[in-house]
Amino acid sequence: MYRSHTCGELRMEHAGQEVSLSGWMFRNRDFGGMTFIDIRDRYGLTQLVFNMDDDADLCAAARKLGREYVIQIVGSVRERSNKNPNIPTGDIEIEVKSLTILNESKIPPFTIEDETDGGDDLRMTYRYLDLRRSPVQKNIIFRSKLAIETRKYLDAQDFIEVETPFLIKSTPEGARDFVVPSRMNEGQFYALPQSPQTFKQLLMVSGFDKYFQIVKCFRDEDLRADRQPEFTQIDCEMSYVHQEDILNTFEGLTKHLFKTTLDIDLPDFPRMTYDDALRLYGSDKPDTRFGMQFVELNPLVENSGFVVFDKSELVVGVCAPGAASWTRKQLDALTKWVQRPQIGAKGLVYVKCNEDGTFKSTVDKFFDQEALQNWANAFDAKPGDLILILAGETDKTRKQLNEVRLHVGNELGLRKKGEFKPLWVLDFPLLEWDEDSNRFHAMHHPFTSPKKEDIPRMLNGDHETMKSLRADAYDLVINGVEIGGGSIRIHDRDLQSRNFDLLGFTKEEAEDQFGFLMGAFEYGAPPHGGIAFGFDRLCSVLNGIESIRDFIAFPKNNQGRDMMIDAPAYIDDGQLKELSLEVTAKKEA
Ligand code: AMO
Repeated sequence: MYRSHTCGELRMEHAGQEVSLSGWMFRNRDFGGMTFIDIRDRYGLTQLVFNMDDDADLCAAARKLGREYVIQIVGSVRERSNKNPNIPTGDIEIEVKSLTILNESKIPPFTIEDETDGGDDLRMTYRYLDLRRSPVQKNIIFRSKLAIETRKYLDAQDFIEVETPFLIKSTPEGARDFVVPSRMNEGQFYALPQSPQTFKQLLMVSGFDKYFQIVKCFRDEDLRADRQPEFTQIDCEMSYVHQEDILNTFEGLTKHLFKTTLDIDLPDFPRMTYDDALRLYGSDKPDTRFGMQFVELNPLVENSGFVVFDKSELVVGVCAPGAASWTRKQLDALTKWVQRPQIGAKGLVYVKCNEDGTFKSTVDKFFDQEALQNWANAFDAKPGDLILILAGETDKTRKQLNEVRLHVGNELGLRKKGEFKPLWVLDFPLLEWDEDSNRFHAMHHPFTSPKKEDIPRMLNGDHETMKSLRADAYDLVINGVEIGGGSIRIHDRDLQSRNFDLLGFTKEEAEDQFGFLMGAFEYGAPPHGGIAFGFDRLCSVLNGIESIRDFIAFPKNNQGRDMMIDAPAYIDDGQLKELSLEVTAKKEA
């Protein structure tokens, strides 16, 4: 028997018992006559004592143990004289009687401690050692619990888990596909699914009624902290539902997950239209942990002679509570920050609401105290607050002010860790006009249904009308992160065909790519809709951590590389030939 207990299990009630433990040599402290060793496994750590007077050979062997050696010991549990209240096993220690080295270890390339000295690349190259560190293990264990609770909740609601294929034909969801050459079908490629979208709709046509899957999805897109090329969704679809049914079911799932993992009871989720989200926050995924809503100033600043405002489509600002005390240096830095190419604003106007009721602004030449008082009223600004204003073209200016709001929110400590503000964003536009390619794109995806009342306009309207069509599409946002998105689907062949027309597909292209789906719609497709949550994002948001990588056992870096197995990699010429691929790839010298 390797172990009678784990390294996190023993307490005072075990005192006097003989036990065996197995684990890694974590820390070694030598006090001459006595040697203390901490043995560690996933469950915790336990202090071992070796006494020179009792067994000099055993004590000498213990002193020689290197970091991360795998050891097994037998000994008896006793009360510690020097208790450690910081760990659950801190009241006891093991007086060791025998020690076996199960495996030696080279000196690890970084310390396997909560706070490690290993840089990102090194940790990713030796991810199996990084995963031995307690905080990383905790994240992966959290993920496991979240998946299990998801299954429990959806199972209790009669959902059926169905696996859909990974080798498919491309589905357009906005990103590029990863493709896989087919050896048996020369010159042809599979695509890895960006999501199981079409399959889950077909499952509704098949009558499964409520489907879910915790499923890998693959998207070849630029990577960021919250994006990986392969990631996981909680993917769902339901038949005979309206938007309201989906929102209720998945609000219920979210509440269940918060309760069972964090013991937090979330109140009912507020809802906001897409238009309001853009107007009030300049973003379709607002962080509603703090206020600082946008206030549009156009009517208050007309014909002032301040040419920047006079020629701007939108003049809009936010009020930063208590920030009037910011120094000139801080405000200059903020102005420079908004002028960086990543934000792209031309300048920043600010108004300090002084404690004495007066105002000091960068536009004092054009606006007197009375005008500034009117602005302050519009913002409901208090003495001590700072008003920050941008002006320009509507969409761009809103985006820029969104960045300012989030940045200043961070600076003022308003985006609090441990606070959770979910929000449903509703009524997304159906189509989005893309100037560059001169065509419409589906805002969510091409299978999304317009709102019922908008269907006649969709069937008969002109180009401009199309821009105003609304969809039964919704996103769940928590703390400014898009956790999930979904929609009610089109289940009628003709409407689906019309949507493909609007998206610029010819009849042949639509038939070629989606004939199978439109064909299925001719065999009794029930009304249906669904949603998918980004599972990795849910893990990270629940833990107040920005990077989803921390919750993926073997993630890719920002270049899409797996540093540990060194992928992607060249393949040999023989393999290329077999796949009917031209042998053009050059191997590194
Ligand atoms: P969507 O494309 O909005 O919808 O994706 C759903 C959720 O998946 C997460 N997500 C990602 N997470 C990590 N890395 C990525 N690269 C990545 N891309 C997306 C986000 C997002 O909200 N088939 C539809 C769902 C539906 O309509 O039912 C879909 O995939 O959290």
